[in-house]
Amino acid sequence: MRLTKLTALLATVAMPAMATELEVTHWWTSGGEAAAVAELAKAFDASGDKWVDGAIAGGGGTARPIMISRITGGDPMGATQFNHGQQALELVEAGLMLDLTDVAEANNWKEVIFPSTLLDACTVDGRIYCAPVNIHSPEWLWLSNKVYEDIGIPVPTNWNEFVETAPQVEAAGKTPLALGNQPWQSNLAFGAITVAVAGLDVWKAVNVEKNMDVAAGPEMAAVFEAAANVRKLAANSNVQDWNQATNLVITDQAAGQIMGDWAQGEFQVAGEVAGQDYTCLPGLGLNAYLSTGGDAFYFPKLNDPEKEEAQKRLAALLVSPEVQVAFNLKKGSLPIRGDVDLAAANDCMKKGLEILASGNLVPSGDMAWNPDVQKQNEDLLVEFFKSDMAADRAHAQWVSNLKTGL
Ligand code: BGC
Repeated sequence: MRLTKLTALLATVAMPAMATELEVTHWWTSGGEAAAVAELAKAFDASGDKWVDGAIAGGGGTARPIMISRITGGDPMGATQFNHGQQALELVEAGLMLDLTDVAEANNWKEVIFPSTLLDACTVDGRIYCAPVNIHSPEWLWLSNKVYEDIGIPVPTNWNEFVETAPQVEAAGKTPLALGNQPWQSNLAFGAITVAVAGLDVWKAVNVEKNMDVAAGPEMAAVFEAAANVRKLAANSNVQDWNQATNLVITDQAAGQIMGDWAQGEFQVAGEVAGQDYTCLPGLGLNAYLSTGGDAFYFPKLNDPEKEEAQKRLAALLVSPEVQVAFNLKKGSLPIRGDVDLAAANDCMKKGLEILASGNLVPSGDMAWNPDVQKQNEDLLVEFFKSDMAADRAHAQWVSNLKTGL
């Protein structure tokens, strides 16, 4: 039998005497996501334990309250996904989550995890409570090349060209912008449009420096005006889930979608080739930056020493180089360590890796704001994008939402 890299690695890790089952909850239910999470399950099972899949449909906004109520309600799972940031902070502070500091030390997480902000987001009072698994940045524009080829115009190279050519796309009977109805999608699009229209410095002033004068000022007023025009481009995009919106681009019914790089997994399972069938523009083609969002696994306390050992084995495995490569190639995300071989990365992932190496990184919205602020703005922005709510009214409400998080 050929010894694969993974089995070689696992041979060096102490195998458990008996398989321990761990239920792992997550919201990875689209085609690309399911392919990626299957890599994690495969590796855990191959290591001698048993992954019991606890996928929750409906996206993070639906899944997270279910996960949290199970943990606080005394029915904890073995491991669960959350985004990098503050989503699990209250659970950690309530003493409900397993301390992984010994795993992190034994596996040199402080040295290998890059950027270090990912591990910072797992750290509460100097102790480490999560295993980061990827870097996902939300601010990408995904374009159908065929839509533009059929019209006979070049594929846009940035957001401004996308907006300028939208009337031609509409005249050809296509939807310019695919945007699903899940509230977080509107918040994500708004963040990306903010940087495209107002620039990265304004985004940082509001979200990192928390400068509420800038938030309430003319630059952000212009962003809301621009977003009010953008929502017209998505008027015919009547889908719910983000991957249904991606599918409108894959099937050339819509020209583009603003979405995180998890969209890449969908193009991949559909057999589309980056650069040939579709185009991806990080920072909407105007600013070469990434925000370092993504996913981490947390391990609720189970008060069961055998399960606890398995939880720690899983935490170590998720960060291991082999699992990082296998998982992230399917997920469309970037690995959380720089010492892995990503020769098989496609064009889009290579663009992401270049930006990561350049260091032009900002925190994700989930890192910058607490979950309450995020939720309030998701609700506001989905209403704004899906109605004719006045730009100035939305702007005022948005500023007051932000102020609740100061
Ligand atoms: C997660 C991604 C996931 C996306 C859509 C994000 O919050 O970070 O891993 O693919 O949601 O489900």
